[in-house]
Amino acid sequence: MNEQEIILAIAQEVRAKMEGESSGHDWWHVYRVWRMAKRIGAEEKVEMFVVELAALLHDIADWKFHNGDDTVGPRVAREMLERHAVPEEVITRVCAIISEVSFKGAGAAEKPSTLAGMVVQDADRLDALGAIGIARAFAYGGHKNRVMHDPAIPPATHRTKEEYQKNQSTTINHFYEKLLLLKDRLNTATARSIAEDKHAFLEDFLARFLCEWEG
Ligand code: ADP
Ligand code: NI
Repeated sequence: MNEQEIILAIAQEVRAKMEGESSGHDWWHVYRVWRMAKRIGAEEKVEMFVVELAALLHDIADWKFHNGDDTVGPRVAREMLERHAVPEEVITRVCAIISEVSFKGAGAAEKPSTLAGMVVQDADRLDALGAIGIARAFAYGGHKNRVMHDPAIPPATHRTKEEYQKNQSTTINHFYEKLLLLKDRLNTATARSIAEDKHAFLEDFLARFLCEWEG
């Protein structure tokens, strides 16, 4: 199989595994991150084979759904890549990216060590902004039985991964605790420029939501 065929085979397998997941980590999230990673990657000097594979596999076993165990993702990904005879040198890089991309709280260390990782992380973060980002936040909140909004609960700043994981806050607070912070945490200029308008849309949405809340 050539690289393109491997990418499509992995995409198919990821799709079969993630289709129907409703917490915001469904196949279509992966599909959008994959497309966005290609768009950002085209502007950066980066190996697209690694970027595409890492984008496709970045949420294959998210730590939030494995009692905080963030070693499951890279393990599942490695198994899949080995089965498709991907070279070890590529597997190592893809797995390193998977363990580096996930957001672990406002103050936790998080910058990937390679440009390919930065591209995938940016693509993932952009999917938490804009209209789709808003839809995903409420889908996730519903999945976790969170209330949409409670004016009595102020947003918090999570300094560590543990604090962020324990978080039980409202979905509106999630905008202040994560979504509005993302535009200043992007790694590439391409992603920063794509984020501008998506960020503005979040701010408009919040203003309107809070205004409607008080009638
Ligand atoms: P990442 O892809 O950076 O790991 P997450 O897995 O934390 O992002 O989140 C997946 C989606 O669910 C994102 O759109 C995110 O905004 C949303 N989400 C995560 N935590 C919450 C929360 N506490 N309330 C509402 N939405 C959330
Ligand atoms: Ni993701």
